[in-house]
Amino acid sequence: MLTRPPAVPRHVAIIMDGNGRWAARRGLPRSAGHKAGVDALRRAVKAAADFGIEYLTIYSFSSENWSRPAAEVSFLLELLRRFIRQDVAELHHAGVKIKIVGSRDDLEPGIVSLLNDAERLTRGNSKLNLVVAFNYGSKQEISRAVSAIANRLASGEISAADISPELISQNLDTSGIPDPDLLIRTGGEQRISNFLLWQCAYTEFVFVDEFWPDFSHEIFARALDDFNSRDRRFGGIEAQSA
Ligand code: FPP
Repeated sequence: MLTRPPAVPRHVAIIMDGNGRWAARRGLPRSAGHKAGVDALRRAVKAAADFGIEYLTIYSFSSENWSRPAAEVSFLLELLRRFIRQDVAELHHAGVKIKIVGSRDDLEPGIVSLLNDAERLTRGNSKLNLVVAFNYGSKQEISRAVSAIANRLASGEISAADISPELISQNLDTSGIPDPDLLIRTGGEQRISNFLLWQCAYTEFVFVDEFWPDFSHEIFARALDDFNSRDRRFGGIEAQSA
């Protein structure tokens, strides 16, 4: 019997959850969990490139994360700064193209320049697209897209009949990026938390119990196996290879 060769999802999105609980289990401060989370992120990027995934999107800081205690917010921002400063050269060397999605309004100018520099430096790369969702909320992203479209409508550049799913997609931060095939959430919770709501219309979800700092090549491979067992029909009836 012919078996279907396993398909590698073109785009994997990850909600990296469970840093705080990982730390609490060890009697450590939450910051230790976030630090270990950055190591897990490095492993995930390497694994994604090894698996031949084209796009890896990670949820690094949500629009709602500002409501955490100020000290934790500062720590997360410092981790992002450090990650960009320390890892971008290496990622660039490995052929990784970085794209940041999320709002840059009201961000500290220092952070905005770091984000812009990382994108500029790596824009010619094509081994793996690393999409970092930072200060990202999907409802906010959709609202910004609707605003941009409303402005074009008001100026007469487009008419109401021109509004389509394609036009909306083109006005999102993720414009030009294919929708995720697979979304992995670690940490045992099963929710979407304002992440890629529009883009995940036909995404397969895999929830894993392990906390993000424990994420490994093996856990990633298991999630890909799970994805491969799915029958993706995109609302139709014909089975399409996962
Ligand atoms: C969720 O764990 C994780 C976050 C809110 C931040 C994710 C950040 C990292 C993995 C490290 C930073 C990444 C970059 C690119 C700088 P949680 O704190 O919600 O854990 P809990 O649910 O156990 O409390």
